[in-house]
Amino acid sequence: MLAEISILLLSAFLFVYYWFRVQYSYWDRKQIPSIRPSLFFGNLKDLVFMRKASSDIFADLYNNPIGKNSPYIGIYVFHKPALLLRDPELIKKVLIKDFNSFQNHYTYLSPHTDPIGGNMLFMMKTPMWRDLRQKLTPFFTSGKLRNMFPLVDSIGDKLDDYLKSLSSNSSPIVDLKEVCSLYTTDVIASVAFGFDANSLNEPNGDFRRNGRKIFDFHLKTAISFFTAFFLHQLSFIIRPRFLTQETSHFLVKSIDYAMAERKKSGVARNDLIDTLLQFEKEGYPKNVIVGQAAIFWLAGFETTSSVMTFLLLELVRNQEIQDKLREEIKEFLIETNGKFDYDKINSMEYLNMVVQESARMYSTLPFLDRECLEGYQVDEELHIPKGTPVFVPNFGIARDPKYFDEPNKFDPERFHPSNKQFIDNVATMPFGTGPRSCIGERLGLIQVKVGIFNFLRNHKLVANEKTVKDVIIDPMALVVTMKGKMYCDVVRDTMVDL
Ligand code: HEM
Repeated sequence: MLAEISILLLSAFLFVYYWFRVQYSYWDRKQIPSIRPSLFFGNLKDLVFMRKASSDIFADLYNNPIGKNSPYIGIYVFHKPALLLRDPELIKKVLIKDFNSFQNHYTYLSPHTDPIGGNMLFMMKTPMWRDLRQKLTPFFTSGKLRNMFPLVDSIGDKLDDYLKSLSSNSSPIVDLKEVCSLYTTDVIASVAFGFDANSLNEPNGDFRRNGRKIFDFHLKTAISFFTAFFLHQLSFIIRPRFLTQETSHFLVKSIDYAMAERKKSGVARNDLIDTLLQFEKEGYPKNVIVGQAAIFWLAGFETTSSVMTFLLLELVRNQEIQDKLREEIKEFLIETNGKFDYDKINSMEYLNMVVQESARMYSTLPFLDRECLEGYQVDEELHIPKGTPVFVPNFGIARDPKYFDEPNKFDPERFHPSNKQFIDNVATMPFGTGPRSCIGERLGLIQVKVGIFNFLRNHKLVANEKTVKDVIIDPMALVVTMKGKMYCDVVRDTMVDL
């Protein structure tokens, strides 16, 4: 009996082994440069074992000498052949010009395993995606953002008050990464949900507590994100969820409450809640309605707070850049007498340069993914079939010396208006590009700008012995976030008394 079982197991193993070998010869058979995969894991073994962050994995694949002179490299996502794009012109074709063939993300989260998460815009497939994207886009016009600006600005004021309370404390030990998350949580709660989440004063309030749970990257969340991004074929076994049942209930409850209040008041605010009420009228299922609120919340606070945290760290490390930015803030405060709007803050040239440089160096989503919707002729040599995953390693590209001198140096001057013409617009794409790019780009940017402005208007940030020396990107997180905490001294230094 034992002998029979052993033979059976061995045969099964040999069959699987042989099947993988055949899969892994796919790019060789097409004579496309490809990187040797590891058995079962393809080219993602270090990601599976969390030995490297996804930003490094995709940057290493991009920099592999095998692809040096090629516009693309063949890789394997577990068993599946996938294409990693290297050439800017080809990237533009896939993301913009030939977008119709690449409308979907490869990422997929099933609404059966996560009823709210699986219905978020990011996860949606066309034509449902196209329909919802069109209806959500008006929420982000410049006009809407101008109207929203006072809400963001008032949270910025609260941030300044919060920092004041810290700096008056003789030995404050505060993790600025957490402070950024409190601020961005409050902004999203206010502009999207119409709530005063007040996380800056109550860091354990409902919004922050639930948000923390989603982005607290322990093994279970890492496996869920990982499955959705790379191995959704196994969703029926792993059953990934971005939102736990508890978080989903919290969101449903919050949205129900906000929608009921809006109906009662009858006053339109032209915000997300009004858009969701319209969806309700049009007969969209409840999970689709709450799913859109969920993506605003998920995509809106962690990405933005991550960009802010890295930016603050760079300002602490580069005091001369911080001083120059504070000088611009001082002049701006004098000129505006502390009263400004969306357009005015967007006109701050140096603030803009600093934000763009930080977003370049630390692209929050280190790779963009698309799925080939129908067969696509990449060039004369290569045709890819329907369903092929295609990746753009934007973190690696943004740190390629071919596009940026000394790419690991934080240098806002690259984005000076007189230098910007030399930058290829796909060399730095922190928000992606084309019809499927980040819908919240303008909101994200204004959140970051108002946040940084308020961090510096009355405070200086100075390194102390607990400030991180080397940035380590959390290998458990698929988004680019700093591992550990971000400590520094917050020193009160009022530049203009208003
Ligand atoms: C600085 C902050 C942010 C960064 C760096 C960022 C980055 C990104 C990136 C790289 C993508 C994928 C783009 C692509 O595949 O081409 C994306 C998608 C998305 N982002 Fe953002 N984002 C930010 C803030 C926001 C905010 C504030 C919101 C909304 C409140 C938001 C909502 C979304 C949504 C809904 C999608 C999916 C769009 C779709 O599939 O059509 N993001 N974001």
